[in-house]
Amino acid sequence: MLDLKKDFPVFKNNPGLCFLDSGASAQKPSHVIDFVSNFYKTTYANIHRGIYNLSWRTTELYDATREKVAQFLGVSNPECVIFTKNTTEAVNLIAYTYGETLNEGDEIIVSIMEHHANFVPWQMLSKRKGINLKIAYIDRETLELPLKNITSLITEKTKLIALSMCSNVLGTISPFKEVLKIARDKGIKVLLDGAQYMPHHKINFGKEGLEPDFVVFSPHKMCAFDGLGVLYGQREVLEKIPPFLTGGDMIESVSIENTTFAPLPNKLEAGTPPIGAVISLLKAIEYLESIGMKNIEEHETKLAKEAIKRLKEIDGVHVFAPEKISNGIVSFTIDGIHPHDIATILAEDNVCIRAGMHCAEPLITFLEQDSFARATFYLYNDLEDVEKLITSVKRCREVFKL
Ligand SMILES: Cc1ncc(COP(=O)(O)O)c(C=O)c1O
Repeated sequence: MLDLKKDFPVFKNNPGLCFLDSGASAQKPSHVIDFVSNFYKTTYANIHRGIYNLSWRTTELYDATREKVAQFLGVSNPECVIFTKNTTEAVNLIAYTYGETLNEGDEIIVSIMEHHANFVPWQMLSKRKGINLKIAYIDRETLELPLKNITSLITEKTKLIALSMCSNVLGTISPFKEVLKIARDKGIKVLLDGAQYMPHHKINFGKEGLEPDFVVFSPHKMCAFDGLGVLYGQREVLEKIPPFLTGGDMIESVSIENTTFAPLPNKLEAGTPPIGAVISLLKAIEYLESIGMKNIEEHETKLAKEAIKRLKEIDGVHVFAPEKISNGIVSFTIDGIHPHDIATILAEDNVCIRAGMHCAEPLITFLEQDSFARATFYLYNDLEDVEKLITSVKRCREVFKL
């Protein structure tokens, strides 16, 4: 079992804190906070522009992060790693650039378990362009997404499959590896939403021969600072698409009549980026790798399995998770208590969970639910947190006299 609370100052500053909301955003270790704090005290300047030492050093750290992300993903072109504001912006970037090259009658496939970030941009695009948006459904019983539910939707008109690697509500891992292989053979582009996958699993896209056309994720869910997203894309597509945002830092030359654009990655990073957040990602990946992604996955899975077992023993509690789980996501309901009330009562016990639709309304509707309570375990949680969750859930039933 990992024992990492000591690395995260938030726990020292909030004794008794049981933080089970890392699926929304993760806490930050001293390794990251101290480095970035020191960076602002000693080094900060804007990147790319200054011809002085501080700017050079900041630019070096910024570029080193891009290299680190490429190494973390196992991809060969760091210049195809694009820093955005978050996963949401990264998906929108592709929808408003590559998406605009699609034509009326073309087809895009998404799954029913997408976060709104990987659903609404495609729905909007389909309305703008007359594109047919097709939905791959999960199995209501197993809560898995069978490959055939995706492949049976593929036709000659399919141009893109936009797929979550892991559901933020169910923890279901999609068959994204098989989808990548099948789509590549058919010339269909794939965008993978790795927001709930990258912080918890090791994947080397290059080594597995699986480089996706696009992959997006949110560093703030993996111990880096907020305000940053990552898009990785294949060079030939990123070179072809027009810029998403235009202005400073992304140009080659500007005249009164015309503008030419800088090469990648600058073409897709207009304006001053979130420099501190980018640099925090360098340190966050370093920290996660020092623990080991496999160890993180095993640790949080153990905690989630224990939590699921214990929750299922409580009368009136229903857990919504596939049989085979490999991460720390545990969604549940309690008969007779609204998830918002569950979260409120748990908060009184210093147990922080999430309640609601989790930005996945189509999925919640498909499952014929109003909302879920969701606990998410990460590398700093421990068995004591499971115990606190269970005690607090039992207290919910007492409060409601159930
Ligand atoms: C699966 C998934 N995709 C996308 C997002 C959106 O991430 P962000 O809020 O960083 O844009 C989230 C956030 O919870 C998510 O869980």
